[in-house]
Amino acid sequence: MRRVTGKQVVDLGPSEFAELRARHVGAVLDVGTGDGKHALHLARTHPDHLVIGLDAAKDNLRKSAAKSAASPRKGGLPNLLYIWAAAEQLPAELREITELHVLMPWGSLLRGILGDDPAMLSGLANLCAPDARFLITLNLHAWRPPVPEVGDNPEPTPDSATESLGPLLAAAGWHLDEAAYLDADAIAALATSWTRRLNSSRDQLEVLALTGVVNPSR
Ligand SMILES: C[S@@+](CC[C@H](N)C(=O)[O-])C[C@H]1O[C@@H](n2cnc3c(N)ncnc32)[C@H](O)[C@@H]1O
Repeated sequence: MRRVTGKQVVDLGPSEFAELRARHVGAVLDVGTGDGKHALHLARTHPDHLVIGLDAAKDNLRKSAAKSAASPRKGGLPNLLYIWAAAEQLPAELREITELHVLMPWGSLLRGILGDDPAMLSGLANLCAPDARFLITLNLHAWRPPVPEVGDNPEPTPDSATESLGPLLAAAGWHLDEAAYLDADAIAALATSWTRRLNSSRDQLEVLALTGVVNPSR
């Protein structure tokens, strides 16, 4: 698979990935990682986990990727990888993911998460270990006004997400436990650059978080 290390893109083979994965107690995959800040934050705060930021666009990854690939003496993070790939064409080498994050998706990633691309959801579930946790955060500005990717889906609320989106996710192995609005502190704790761009009038509820289990063992 294509590992971004800054301006360079290098090949990371299945055995190299398996070796890295075996050295960590868990692996978090941040799909649509953007500039990779959330993945960087996770890697710093969870040094015993392998963190993988994946995005279909490689150029925004460069800065965080160069930081992570530096030597540990210079602040590099040996538990952080950035992979250039689309969620529709996932690298077969990625395995044993114990946590999936999809924060503020847009484009085909948003369409897929809203259930329009069951193959994308199943493909992501196939990378996961049993009982992996997932976190999806939907930027509700995508419905204000609606962008084309949301199609006919109305803006989700905690109740409507459970009723309408829950079954679509479950069909692909993603079992939704909870849908809840995030407050400003919870949004800030995600440490993504994108959330800083959200409208700062926090009296509005702007982000809906969906959490649950992928491939439940019972
Ligand atoms: C709004 S940005 C959010 C970035 C980051 N998660 C954050 O919260 O700051 C959406 C990201 O999803 C990526 N994306 C869109 N469709 C994708 C796909 N099919 N596969 C992988 N990444 C995708 C885009 O390239 C973009 O970086």
